[in-house]
Amino acid sequence: MHQDVERILFSQKEIAAKVKEVGAKISEDYAGKELVLVSVLKGSVVFMADLMRAITIPCSIDFMSVSSYGKGVRSSGVVRIRKDLDEQLEGKHVLIVEDILDSGLTLSYLREYISQKGEESVRIVTMLDKPSRRRVAVYPDYTCFTVPDAFIVGYGLDYNEIYRNLPYVGVLRPEVYGG
Ligand code: IMP
Ligand code: MG
Repeated sequence: MHQDVERILFSQKEIAAKVKEVGAKISEDYAGKELVLVSVLKGSVVFMADLMRAITIPCSIDFMSVSSYGKGVRSSGVVRIRKDLDEQLEGKHVLIVEDILDSGLTLSYLREYISQKGEESVRIVTMLDKPSRRRVAVYPDYTCFTVPDAFIVGYGLDYNEIYRNLPYVGVLRPEVYGG
């Protein structure tokens, strides 16, 4: 385990099993529909890469980049689009792929933005849900794991751009961010 990690919440093995399960459920729910996965960079890339391979029906992928957190641990509430969608969403069923749903500010903005693209439906799949910190009413349609109110790193999640490559999900030691 990394020295800056206080404890591991979900091991590589547990994550793999859960992602497979969620991928199977999505495949079932979207069978016969035109599905596009929209990954929110950068945190969700690891989840996206695993989830798309757990989905057994045809689907396309797209990426968006928005800023909400900057480099700290608190959401600013300000969402800015850094990279927009490449594909047209008309007639498609959109599944937004997120790493963690925290205050919900980022996703409530994104869901609204995507709802104006002529898509058939928009739903949310998140690797982690931290419901204790929700500030706006946005709920995931698919969740792998619910996490406590702590700062989480690994499996795509960062602090100051570090720790994304840890293969497990863990709690960052508060000393690391001066908490
Ligand atoms: P929200 O807008 O507050 O829901 O935050 C969404 C984004 O904040 C996520 O996509 C993450 O990039 C980041 N974030 C929220 N909580 C954590 C955490 O515990 N660890 C790392 N990043 C986080
Ligand atoms: Mg982040």
